[in-house]
Amino acid sequence: MARQVVCKESELPVGKMKPFKVGDTNVLVYHLEDGFHATQASCTHVFAPLARGKIVDGCRVRCPFHRAQFDIRTGEVHEWANFPPGIQLLNVVRSEKALKTYPTVVEEGDVVVVV
Ligand code: FES
Repeated sequence: MARQVVCKESELPVGKMKPFKVGDTNVLVYHLEDGFHATQASCTHVFAPLARGKIVDGCRVRCPFHRAQFDIRTGEVHEWANFPPGIQLLNVVRSEKALKTYPTVVEEGDVVVVV
């Protein structure tokens, strides 16, 4: 298990996300209205870097490749890959899979992620 300070609370404003490495694991840390959260950094569909995607409705991350959306707090799939048309053919072999999430706490202004 790795437990690591990734940044200062003040370095990641609400509505932003940023990738970090915790031990050997690439994580994506988000600052939402209710605090900090972390998920695996790559999409479960075909591994796009989610940091290049977008935070949607303040609670979901949208993949930059085929627009799958995941709940940031739970990692659950909100919408599976749906772009461009025809991607459903690939989805036959890449079926829905939630993101891993990691416990994230703030300690004296430091954002700490546990992997
Ligand atoms: S790689 Fe993320 S939706 Fe395809």
